[in-house]
Amino acid sequence: MMFKMLLYALWVTSAGAQSAKDIIMDIDIMGGIDDVGALAVANVFHNCGLATIRGIAINTSSKYGSLATSCINTYFGNGDIPIAAMKPLTNDTYFDRYTFVNGEYASKIAYNYPRALDDAGHTPDPVQMYRRILGSAEDGSITVVSLGYFDNLATLISSTPDEFSPLGGRDLIRRKVSELVVMGGEYPTSNTIHFTYEFNFGGKTPQATQAVVNFWPGRITFSGYTPGLNVISGPSPALAPPKSPVLAGYEWYVGRGGASTSSWDGLTMLYAVLSLDGFSKIGHKNLFKYQNTYGYNHVSDDGSNSWVNDTSRTDQHWIGLADGVSNNSVAQTLNQFYIRGASQISCTML
Ligand SMILES: *[C@@H]1O[C@H](CO)[C@@H](O)[C@H](O)[C@H]1NC(C)=O
Ligand SMILES: *[C@@H]1O[C@H](CO)[C@@H](O)[C@H](O)[C@H]1NC(C)=O
Ligand SMILES: *[C@@H]1O[C@H](CO)[C@@H](O)[C@H](O)[C@H]1NC(C)=O
Ligand SMILES: *[C@@H]1O[C@H](CO)[C@@H](O)[C@H](O)[C@H]1NC(C)=O
Repeated sequence: MMFKMLLYALWVTSAGAQSAKDIIMDIDIMGGIDDVGALAVANVFHNCGLATIRGIAINTSSKYGSLATSCINTYFGNGDIPIAAMKPLTNDTYFDRYTFVNGEYASKIAYNYPRALDDAGHTPDPVQMYRRILGSAEDGSITVVSLGYFDNLATLISSTPDEFSPLGGRDLIRRKVSELVVMGGEYPTSNTIHFTYEFNFGGKTPQATQAVVNFWPGRITFSGYTPGLNVISGPSPALAPPKSPVLAGYEWYVGRGGASTSSWDGLTMLYAVLSLDGFSKIGHKNLFKYQNTYGYNHVSDDGSNSWVNDTSRTDQHWIGLADGVSNNSVAQTLNQFYIRGASQISCTML
């Protein structure tokens, strides 16, 4: 009974208030285009009042990452969203040495679309941005969405008190962050279908992945390799505004007349804002379910991961598509975000 009343209270609060979810994104824009997809989803939610993107941390070293991010935000009328990047910056551009198919887009977006950020060097350090936002946030109010590598978050965890907060990183996170949403890993274990490890977990800095996933002081939800791989989304050239940098980015990346590809980051962003049960806010049926009821994720030294079936732990989950939801229907939903412009401020899907 108590439990039911509590659920009811939660339902009334979330349905009634329609309040925006405060989100910090951590992205590895460069290479894969799905970061651009996630930025489009985030900006549309920001514009319709379901999310407030408080800041975006970049964890790729090229200056084109923050510049391209600023172009996307500026296109959606959100050039004022803070962007943070590690220094020193490089002039690196992407070269697809895995499939020799996909093209570079970040520098092209950066130089061919308007942006509020004039110089990538004029960005704060990611951990400084995290601590500034978290330091003044209400308790339990922030959702952190990790769509790339874990260096920034690992550094945040071990950060020490400063002008923004008397708390160390671990206590600051425990107090201010309600959920960490992670694109990465393979569930229930990696090494099953595709690779020894999933790329975000093991491709660059697995020790940072371990520091975050194995020791994060709070709730984590994982979106692994499999659901995103099979959701093939991209803006339709016929429906997207011709001046959209989202469309241009997908066309440059996918190449040869195509504009659709796997949706790891965009799909994860949908979950981050709407959770399992919030899709009615966009006039849509719910798309995701949790695939487990208990246990936790463990990352090994090489970045491989496996789920530990510990019945005493219920604060970690991994998501899959809800029953009856097809890969294609998730792609259709994402596509509707990708084709929007700044003037369309409703999130209700057709
Ligand atoms: C990500 O940021 C960390 C510092 O937070 C840095 O050491 C690392 O090189 C960065 N990774 C990439 C791929 O840029
Ligand atoms: C990047 O290119 C600029 C000129 O476009 C140059 O001034 C700068 O030194 C370069 N940075 C690096 C790290 O090579
Ligand atoms: C949808 O994706 C799942 C994996 O997430 C895959 O097993 C399934 O074959 C896909 N379905 C179709 C129709 O492509
Ligand atoms: C955990 O449980 C799942 C089924 O719920 C099973 O497939 C898996 O093998 C179990 N893992 C371990 C390490 O026992």
